[in-house]
Amino acid sequence: MIDAVVHDAAELVVAPGESYADGAVAIEDGRVARVGSTDAVTREYPPENAVERVDATGCAVIPGLVDAHTHALFAGDRSDEFAAKLRGKTYQELLAAGGGILRTVEAVRAASDERLLGNLLGQLDTMLAHGTTTVEVKSGYGLDAETELQMLEVIDTANARHPVDVVATFMGAHAVPTGRDAEAYTAEVIDDQLPAVAAQGVAEFCDVFCEDGVFSVDQSRRILEAGREYGLTPKIHAEELSHLGGAQLGAEVGAASADHLLQATAADASALAAAGVTPVFLPGTAFSLGTAYADAEPFTAAGATIAIASDFNPNCHSSSMGMTLALACVGMGLSPRDALDAATRGGALALDRADGVGTLTPGAPADLVVLDAPTHVHIPYSFGVNRVGTVLKGGTVVHDTERLASGGVR
Ligand code: NIG
Ligand code: FE
Repeated sequence: MIDAVVHDAAELVVAPGESYADGAVAIEDGRVARVGSTDAVTREYPPENAVERVDATGCAVIPGLVDAHTHALFAGDRSDEFAAKLRGKTYQELLAAGGGILRTVEAVRAASDERLLGNLLGQLDTMLAHGTTTVEVKSGYGLDAETELQMLEVIDTANARHPVDVVATFMGAHAVPTGRDAEAYTAEVIDDQLPAVAAQGVAEFCDVFCEDGVFSVDQSRRILEAGREYGLTPKIHAEELSHLGGAQLGAEVGAASADHLLQATAADASALAAAGVTPVFLPGTAFSLGTAYADAEPFTAAGATIAIASDFNPNCHSSSMGMTLALACVGMGLSPRDALDAATRGGALALDRADGVGTLTPGAPADLVVLDAPTHVHIPYSFGVNRVGTVLKGGTVVHDTERLASGGVR
């Protein structure tokens, strides 16, 4: 049975370095069966034999976007900090005064399971409407075993309920809780939180905020190595606000990704590339903080495959990967195609996804986006405007702007 045929796309982006003009995708059993020119694909897979036919005339078709770094599960409202930052307050000043992450921790601890789940499902709806089909969501607003487990449970439930694939990361080491000492809290993460998180079996990755005044390189190393013992693959927030050595640590422990890298050096880039660690750039964070953007050039020169992600969180309040692409182009100087590759295949690599996730090569999950524009360039070109028309997840239409206007698909 042919699930779906998407045909007559003005541009079909298949994978880095591979696209077609007038392209089509045939989908069987939720996976891409064939891609190529519309003529060749529809001869073998006639659209009239398919359950779903998507006429993409005049539209570009791209792989579903993979957002490999978010803190999308939270409660509360920190919009006043946005205004305070514009008046000159720094992120570190807000955090040191009990604001920032610590304020979100209070709101999350006070929220019910239902409220947290409702919040996350709502965020996933927005992400899907903006073309994201796979997203990583971190815990880290609990900072105690009970609330960290609760966050991971909610992430797991949202993954089961929502068409977007949600990948869970444990981030008990996101901040040092109010009134605690970093060293004592590191021991709590290792001795109390990690064993419980491993027993729960939801988290795939373990992440640490390796930063001046948060967790040192040595504390981060101990947490990531302990996480590895429990089967959690390391990730690291590295060289965001200061240059501390987190990137070198990421290379040493063989992290899946090292993220932020605003202060990274060429030596960091070479070390990460040599170790096969995916660098994840988060241009929305630089935009929100009003700081300089990361320089991806030393990383690509060293041979790394880079990723870009939204870093959606209360400090960087946009889950739009379209906006992330625009910022990567204008702020970091990436070409629209390099930005798209970084937001698809790059994101999948940062999440250790196999099976062609982030591409439309035969055998890959049929996660794809039909744009209401003729080329992928229109995504960053139309910054702040959503150009997503229809989204297919595993070959099924899960979002359609036109159908929504006439009564909805879900
Ligand atoms: O990736 N840098 C640490 N964590 C987040 C911010 C989280 C927050 O401010 O709530 C980040 O930018
Ligand atoms: Fe982050």
